[in-house]
Order: sequence, then structure tokens, then C-alpha cells
Amino acid sequence: MKKVNIIVIGPPGAGKGTQSERISGELGIPHISTGDMLRQHSDLETEHGMARDYMDRGDLVPDKIVYSILDHRLKKRDTENGFVLDGFPRDISQARHLESMEKIDAVISLEVDKNNVIRRLTGRRICDSCGKTFHLDYKPPVKEGVCDKCGSDLVQREDDKKDVIEQRLKKYRDKTLPLKEFYRKKGVLRKVDGNKDIEAVWNDIKEMIEEFLR
Ligand code: AP5
Repeated sequence: MKKVNIIVIGPPGAGKGTQSERISGELGIPHISTGDMLRQHSDLETEHGMARDYMDRGDLVPDKIVYSILDHRLKKRDTENGFVLDGFPRDISQARHLESMEKIDAVISLEVDKNNVIRRLTGRRICDSCGKTFHLDYKPPVKEGVCDKCGSDLVQREDDKKDVIEQRLKKYRDKTLPLKEFYRKKGVLRKVDGNKDIEAVWNDIKEMIEEFLR
């Protein structure tokens, strides 16, 4: 298979993680999420652990920390056939940083209305141990409050509380939204209606991927 580098962008709660996981399974390329990596580092209290303060406030983590984690990850051998990147870039300067290292083949933009975003974020629960994502209404676990995969407790992310969501949405509007124009000019932007249910969004993405891989 030819190398394919995909970025998934969209507001908080758009379904980037959910759909990136599926793209990763379909194409056999790793799903790389800067949010997940930053959360892991904070949990482990590594030198990058201070990222947690920014995340809990809904602010972007300083580039220096994010670049050091991402650059290291992109050098791993499992990216030789490509990757699906979720949560990066977050602004034009991060996009330029990425451009200096990798060619991007497609940027999938999940277009989701604000009311759906808020419903998805406030109902999201994640596994305390393995990080698997659930939703109280749209993707409930088999047993309430317990992870289907590893049996650990499900918790709410600190940044999924209402006031932090507003700040994340503001950051998205101010910093991340201009990326759509940036990638549209490069001819790689592909918009998907992310308001549909998980399966329907996935079907649209799959069709699009088949088209550009042809
Ligand atoms: P990050 O973890 O990337 O958060 P985010 O971008 O705000 O995105 P989310 O993880 O909240 O949502 P998602 O779009 O992945 O949706 P999901 O699939 O989970 O970043 C967190 C923080 O880290 C940032 O605020 C920042 O501080 C820092 N950070 C990360 N990257 C950074 C960077 N590059 N630079 C600087 N700082 C950075 O779905 C959400 C819920 O909805 C789930 O419960 C899911 O089950 C459900 N759902 C999904 N799709 C559907 C659907 N179609 N219908 C119904 N429900 C759905």
C-alpha cells in the first residue's frame, strides 16, 4: 500500500478520536492523538506533565511540549505506511511545523453544530485505565460505569465540564478554524457532515478514502 498521511480536524467533541480509530483499523496505519499522548504524559508525571494545567483550563499546551512529544512519535517505525493524526495541528504555526516533516495527503474536516458538540462532550465518559471512549447515550458501555474493554471505572474528563468546554470552543474558533482555509488552498481539505450518527459518518469517510486512494 502507498504511504498515506491523514489529518482529522474539527471542534472539540466532533468525533475526531472515534473516526480516527476506524481509519486506523481500516488502513492499518497508527492513530496518533496529541490529546491522548499529552494525557498519558500528565498521568505519568513526566517532564511534560505540566501540560495538564493547560488542558484542564481548555488552553492549548505550549508548542515546545507538543512538538517534542509529536516529533518523537512520528519517528517510530510504525508510521512507515502513514498515519492518521488527531488533534494536531491546532493552528497555522503547528501546520507549518508538520509540513516541514511530512507531506499531508488528506485533511478530513468534521463539520458539527455547537449543540451536538456540547451534547457529545458532556455525555462522554472515558476509561480511567485504558482510555477507551464511551457516551452515556450514543455509545453506552454494556455495564454502567464500567469499561467494556478492561473492566476499569469510567470517568468524566476534567475538560468536559461546561465552563471548560466554552474555553475549548473559543480556542477552536480563534486558532484552529483558519486551518480549513490553509488546507483548502493546498487542495487537500475534505469536508464531512459530522452531525450524523457514528456509523453514517464513518460510511461517508470510508467512501471518501476509497475515492482518494483510487
Ligand atoms: P484533545 O484530546 O485533542 O481534545 P479535542 O480536540 O477537544 O477533542 P476531543 O477529544 O474532545 O473530541 P473528539 O473530536 O476526539 O471526539 P470523540 O471522538 O472523543 O485535546 C485535549 C487538550 O489537549 C486540548 O484542549 C489542549 O489543551 C491539548 N492539546 C491537544 N493537542 C494539542 C496541540 N496540538 N497543541 C496544543 N495543545 C493540544 O467523541 C466525543 C464524544 O461523542 C464521545 O463520547 C463519542 O462516543 C461521541 N461521538 C463521536 N461521534 C459521534 C457521533 N457521530 N454521534 C454521536 N456521538 C458521537
